[in-house]
Order: sequence, then structure tokens, then C-alpha cells
Amino acid sequence: MGLFENMLKDNETLFKNEVALSFDFHPKPLMYRDIEQKQMANCIKPLFQSRDGYSLLIHGKPGIGKTIAVKQVLQELGETDEAENIVPLYINCWQKNTTYKIIIDICEQIDYTFTQNKKTEELLKIAIARLNKSSVVFVFDEIDKVEDYDFLYTFLEQIYRKSILLISNYKEWLIQLDPRIKSRLNPQLLDFRTYNQQETKGILEQRKEHAFYNVWDNDAFNIIVEKTFQLKDIRAGLHLMNISGHFAENEASRKISKKHVELAIEKLDELSVKDLGLEEDKQFILSIIKLNTGKKIGDLFKSYQENGGKMSYKTFKRRIEDLEKGKFVSTKTVTGGEDGSTSIVTYLSANGNTKNAESTKKLTDY
Ligand SMILES: Nc1ncnc2c1ncn2[C@@H]1O[C@H](COP(=O)(O)OP(=O)(O)O)[C@@H](O)[C@H]1O
Ligand SMILES: [Mg+2]
Repeated sequence: MGLFENMLKDNETLFKNEVALSFDFHPKPLMYRDIEQKQMANCIKPLFQSRDGYSLLIHGKPGIGKTIAVKQVLQELGETDEAENIVPLYINCWQKNTTYKIIIDICEQIDYTFTQNKKTEELLKIAIARLNKSSVVFVFDEIDKVEDYDFLYTFLEQIYRKSILLISNYKEWLIQLDPRIKSRLNPQLLDFRTYNQQETKGILEQRKEHAFYNVWDNDAFNIIVEKTFQLKDIRAGLHLMNISGHFAENEASRKISKKHVELAIEKLDELSVKDLGLEEDKQFILSIIKLNTGKKIGDLFKSYQENGGKMSYKTFKRRIEDLEKGKFVSTKTVTGGEDGSTSIVTYLSANGNTKNAESTKKLTDY
């Protein structure tokens, strides 16, 4: 009957190299980002002649290659002989969200190890003295997640030859920046567009070749491309390919077919409601609140929409209630005024303090 003919044997796998589906994998070459990478390189170029470089604010939706494009530029810089005297520094501000954490990270990157028991100011001084022997390319990824901008001001003032590349999911970040920093930074803008369907397919195709043996039904793969294009986030596609592969393997199937992909999409939808989506939504709303702390909920919603937010006002309000329960924000109802009764929403920092212009005020301490 041949019932078991097409079965995967115990020691067989559909994956050639599963690591290629991880978000940190660096596919080579990086496709469709030539123009963007060229603009980054142009900001850095003056450093090759020991002149001061330019600053750049890279912005665009999550999952469209901002981080990977920048990292590859830094990598190429590291491999260029003429760039011997240029120090590339990459800092993820989601993880390192204070001046202290950032300076510790930088000290590590430049191999300065005596950081214990030293204060932020002292470390800044030491690092700056060292960095000024060369030129520096700073990348601050997820810059909108930092709690204070003292480091930025200090580097702008005290590093002589530098190029500062900032990455943010939205460009409104710039508007709320302290004018003293903004005028010194004066960045060019680089808008990362989302990929069209053809490009989405190209990228996923490339990863498919890296990650799998020849096991994909065309139809199945095309559904993933379609879904990824809809979601405008390459990570969704990588994730879907990965779980589809595992569903197929669990069934000992030699092919990844439509039904595996459909199951994977179901899982993704569940996940995006319960975890991924919700978290991203909340993060997004929280960053809007952070930029507009102390404002009325209606104004926050406007800002949320202007930055591409899609949920209804009702859902938006519910998310803010969740954020309040989690002590990320506080709300206060005020009555009177032209709006009748409304809520004022205030961003709370990690230790529960209200946060307003205080973080920038610290700049004058220098
Ligand atoms: N042009 C591309 N070629 C190959 N992979 C890409 C490309 N653009 C994005 N990716 C992949 O999509 C994922 C998300 O990219 P990432 O740079 O982290 O996005 P962002 O920083 O914009 O949120 C990564 O796994 C990355 O490898
Ligand atoms: Mg990123």
C-alpha cells in the first residue's frame, strides 16, 4: 500500500540549518537596502579624512531590516583597512536604557575593564579620552527606549570626530528631543520603507535556501510570503517557516505543505493576540506616552494614530488601563474644561516615579 513510504526517518530532518531562521542571522548579501546603506556610509565617510561625520536618524516600522542593515555597515567598516582609526560602537538602548548602562557597555566594547566602583561621569571622561584618539561611529538602536539623554549630549559636545546613527521605530521621537541636543545633533533622516511583495518573497526565499533542504511545496511557501507581506514584518515570515517545518517534522512528513503552514498561521494568530501583538502594541503605546507624558488621553490617541497606530479608541483606552495595572503609567481624571471629563496620563519610570522634563534637566549639571 505504500502507506509509510513518504515518511521521514528518525534521524532525518527537513532543516539544513535552522539557525538561518533566527532573527540575528546575517544573510549575505543583504538585499534591497543598497540605497539606505549608502546613505549611512555617506554619513561616516568624512571620518576617513579625519573630519567630523554626520548624524542620521533611521526610522521605520519594526521588522524591516533597520538593525541588520546598520550592523552590516559596521561590520564592513571593521573589515576596511582604511578604517583602522575608526571605532564602531553599537548599543542596543532597549537593553541599555540609561547613561550609566550605556557607558559601561561602551567601556566593554573598547576593552576598558576597570569600571567597578566608578561613577558615570568618571567613566564618561575615561571613555571620551580614549575615543578621541580615533574617530567614532555610534549606533544607538531603539533610541526611543532610553530614560535619559545625558550620554548623547556629552558625546555631541566632547567627541571631536564622530558619526551618530540613531534608530527609532518612529520619527516623532525627534520632536520631543531637548532643543540643545536637537540642534547639535541636527540629523539627516532616513526613512526605511516597508518591503513590497516581490522583495518579501526574495528575502524569505534566500532564508529558505539557507535553512531547509528542498522540502517546500510552492503553494505552502507562497502563503507564507503573502501573510508576511500583509504583516509587513519579516520576522513573522521567519517564524512561520520555522514552525511550519516543525509541524511537518512532527508528522514525519518529507514535505512542508499547505496544511502545515495553515496550522502555523493559526498558532501565530494566537500568539500575536496573547503575546507578541499585545506586547508590541503596549510597547508602542507606552513610547507614545513617554514622549507626551502628562497629556490628555485624546491627544495621546491622536499622536498614536499619526504614528501609524491602528486600534480603536476603545481598545487604546483598554491598553492604557493594562499599562496602569502594570504600573507603567498613572492616570488621573480631571473634570471641567472644554472636554468635560478626561484622563491625564503620566509615564512612570522603572522605579515608579513620575517622569517629565526632569531627565533632560540633568543636562545642565555638566
Ligand atoms: N533585506 C533583508 N534581507 C534579509 N533579511 C532581512 C532583510 N530585512 C530584514 N531581514 C530580516 O528580518 C528580521 C528583522 O530585521 P531587523 O533588522 O531586526 O528589523 P528592524 O530593526 O527594522 O526591526 C531579521 O531577522 C533580518 O534578518
Ligand atoms: Mg531593530
